[in-house]
Amino acid sequence: MIPTLEWLPEGVSFLDQTKLPLEETYVLATDYKQVATVIRDMIVRGAMAIGVSGAMGVALGILRSTANDIETLNAEVVAICDHLAATRPTAVNLFWGIGQIRDLYDALAAANTPIPEIKDAVVTRARQMYDEDIAACRQLGDFGAELLPRKGTVLTHCNAGALAACGYGSALGVIRSAVARGHQIDVFADETRPYLQGARLTAWELMKDNIPTTVLCDNMSAHLMKQGRIQAVIVGADRIAANGDTANKIGTYGVSILAREHGIPFYVAAPWSTIDIHTAHGDLIPIEQRNPREVTHSNGIQMTPSGVAIENPAFDVTPARYISAIITERGILRAPFTEAIRRMAEGARPAREILEAQTI
Ligand code: MRU
Repeated sequence: MIPTLEWLPEGVSFLDQTKLPLEETYVLATDYKQVATVIRDMIVRGAMAIGVSGAMGVALGILRSTANDIETLNAEVVAICDHLAATRPTAVNLFWGIGQIRDLYDALAAANTPIPEIKDAVVTRARQMYDEDIAACRQLGDFGAELLPRKGTVLTHCNAGALAACGYGSALGVIRSAVARGHQIDVFADETRPYLQGARLTAWELMKDNIPTTVLCDNMSAHLMKQGRIQAVIVGADRIAANGDTANKIGTYGVSILAREHGIPFYVAAPWSTIDIHTAHGDLIPIEQRNPREVTHSNGIQMTPSGVAIENPAFDVTPARYISAIITERGILRAPFTEAIRRMAEGARPAREILEAQTI
């Protein structure tokens, strides 16, 4: 198991993803402000990982509070949640994770639960969310595995693996499950400029699992698709709107258009916590703009002329019409997505037979 993050008696330990693949070092956050810094600086990144990190950050903030009365603690909890929520805007899992602990806190506080019991309960819930994340990834991995070819090459963009979650991963979880069932899968990992999550992180974790992996520059996949060398595309998601439009790492949208042009299925794998039924469509998803230095510099070396204008949106939105299926731990969603998501949100799950009848 890759130790992306871990609750410890001293705080929350994070594998420092900014140092991978060259160094495996850990950062210990002993208070919620340090957790927020770890999220903002992308020491931990990936929608699911920052969701659970946000939850653990709120739990850590409550645990470390010295408030003796509930009114003081209430005010602190609002500040803790606001501080953590201000770190990264796009992945809805962050707000979901913070909200899970906040809702539990509010319910316990309203029921006059003693503060020590509240502290125990929020820490227990945050740690439980870690286990639930792994379980969700394994379940969606099992659902999605049969969508991948028995033998072939799958393209992925960014890192939607164990490092983007508490373990196993979403898109890479599906690949892991398919390989475990005997599929012979080779992976093309887009390098994912400018932060290189594919080259640094996806390649690192797939190589640890001995899954054959080849890194591509982001501009190579059209050529390889045209040559018939890619049989499926699978990516993760940072936020899926109620109509299926999907925000994921910048460049995903372009890959989806290429896949459609070449008749290649394009799959999104994400836990239910990534679906934002309160956001009607993708144009409403906030897109994080990151530091231009990520584009101008590589490993501290300047790559562009001083003073040149830079764009650095961290995510783009793939319209639902380019998505062949959305794989969740509750089942597989197909177009029309608005209806499929609404039904799944209401608890209706597609019958197993329907899942098994799905073919590429
Ligand atoms: O900026 P990042 O590295 O946090 O972005 C991550 C991605 O876009 C992943 O592909 C996405 O989180 C899906 S994996 C849970």
